[in-house]
Order: sequence, then structure tokens, then C-alpha cells
Amino acid sequence: MPNVCVKNVSKYYTSADGNEVQALKDVNFTVEEGEFICIVGPSGCGKSTLLEIIAGLLDITCGEVTLDDKKVKGTSRDIGVVFQDASLFPWRTIYKNVAFGMEVAKIPKKEQEERVAKYIDMVNLKGFEHKYPAQLSGGMRQRTGLARTFAMEPEVILMDEPFSAVDHLTRCKLQEELISIWEKEKKTIIFVTHDINEAVYLADRIILLSPRPSTVQRIYEVPHHGKRDRNAKDLIHIANEVMIDINNGGNLDTIDNNSI
Ligand SMILES: Nc1ncnc2c1ncn2[C@@H]1O[C@H](COP(=O)(O)OP(=O)(O)OP(=O)(O)O)[C@@H](O)[C@H]1O
Ligand SMILES: [Mg+2]
Repeated sequence: MPNVCVKNVSKYYTSADGNEVQALKDVNFTVEEGEFICIVGPSGCGKSTLLEIIAGLLDITCGEVTLDDKKVKGTSRDIGVVFQDASLFPWRTIYKNVAFGMEVAKIPKKEQEERVAKYIDMVNLKGFEHKYPAQLSGGMRQRTGLARTFAMEPEVILMDEPFSAVDHLTRCKLQEELISIWEKEKKTIIFVTHDINEAVYLADRIILLSPRPSTVQRIYEVPHHGKRDRNAKDLIHIANEVMIDINNGGNLDTIDNNSI
């Protein structure tokens, strides 16, 4: 049974001048439990809209999203979100930021302590528990955001360009750390990115959205033979294909229907 099903999802916004803007049109795909999915597509096509809909943060105009066959209605602890900006509380220490959601959810103190220790260790922030966000680098703040989301132990984690604000080397390091956490935790991850190489490195499958009104243009399987290798020929080949398809701009006539 698929973990997440996105079924015929369409979304219209009403802009400030009263005109309707269609962001998504009949978006359909499923995600298996434990799968790592990357969503790519041209700027403004509706990637964040789709992620917010899956998170239950935004109403759907038509269609539905299900998690384990149950309709997603509003936010829930089963679905965690990591945004581009870690949005930490500046007055709370790293420890207290990671513990925040658990405090709200009234998780027993002992369990909070165990989970904070586990996830701070997993994101390589041991020793920084009592620092404040302003004392950390951008990459370390993003790691704190990851630890905070993983500490809630959701079934599905949604990420919207979480590494786009850090430098290239930090970004590569964070990608490697995320893969290593994902391999340990076996969570379902849906990750939005502008960066095709990032998508190819991280994903089991890549979903390409067409320009607005956005629909699924193509789905790519990404083979990872053992250890992930950024320079593997077949990955470079897939990245090139994605680029060509994006430049084709959703001209569905040119696309191999077997891969949709
Ligand atoms: N609240 C809103 N009201 C009106 N239109 C909106 C609203 N939010 C988004 N849109 C429009 O919907 C479309 C999709 O926006 P969205 O932010 O989901 O795209 P995106 O693919 O995440 O873009 P980017 O690549 O720049 O992050 C855009 O045309 C945007 O202008
Ligand atoms: Mg976006």
C-alpha cells in the first residue's frame, strides 16, 4: 500500500486583484513507505503549493491527499515539515529548539531528553546543545531544524528547498548527512529542490512538474548501486534528461509515456 497518495489535486488561488490563478492541475502520484522522492520543476510552477497541500497547511480546490489511506485534513504529527529557513527561536538554545515540538505535544521529559540527544548526535551537533542559534553557522542552524523535525518522529517528512541558503560544500555535507539519517530512520521523504544534481543524488524517484498550471510531466527512477556516487554516469545521464525535459517546457507530446 502506498504511504502517500496525491489524487487529482488541483489548486486555484485568488490573487489580490480578484483574478484566479491555477497553480496545480490534476496532479497524481503515489509515494511508497520509506521512499525518498524529489520534486523538481520550473520556478513558480507550484512545488511549494503542492508540499503545503500534502502537509495539510493549505486547502485543496479539487482532489485529495491520503496518508496510509486516510484523507489528510489539516496538519498532524504524522507529517513533519522542514522549510528553507530553519525558523529557530532565537531565545531558545539548540537543545530547547529541538525539544520545542515535543514540549507542545507534552511528550514525557525523559523521552524528550533521549530524543534530543539522539537527533542532535545524528546531525553532528553534539557539544552545541547550550548555544543559541545566533552563535551557529547557517548549516548548523539547518541541522538543528532537521533534528527538530526528526525528533517528532513523523511518518513522512516534507522538505522545501531546505539547503538552498547554504554554501555549496555545506550543502553537499548536509545532503550526505540527510541520506545517512534517512537510511537509519527509514522515513518517507518528499523533498522539493531547484537543483537537479541534488535531486539525482538524493532521490529514489524524481517527479518533474510542468510549468503552471502544473501537472506531473515525468517521473524518473534513479538507480543507486550501493554507495551514492555524484559522478556515476547513469546519474549524470538522468540529470541531463531532466534538464532537457525542463527546457522542453511541459510539451507532453515529446515525452515517453511509459515513464509517466
Ligand atoms: N497566496 C497566493 N495567492 C495567489 N497566488 C499564489 C499564492 N501563493 C502562490 N501563488 C502562485 O501560485 C504559483 C505557484 O507558487 P509556488 O510558490 O507554489 O511555486 P514554486 O514552484 O514553489 O515556486 P519557486 O520555485 O519560486 O519556489 C505561482 O504562480 C504563485 O505566484
Ligand atoms: Mg517554492
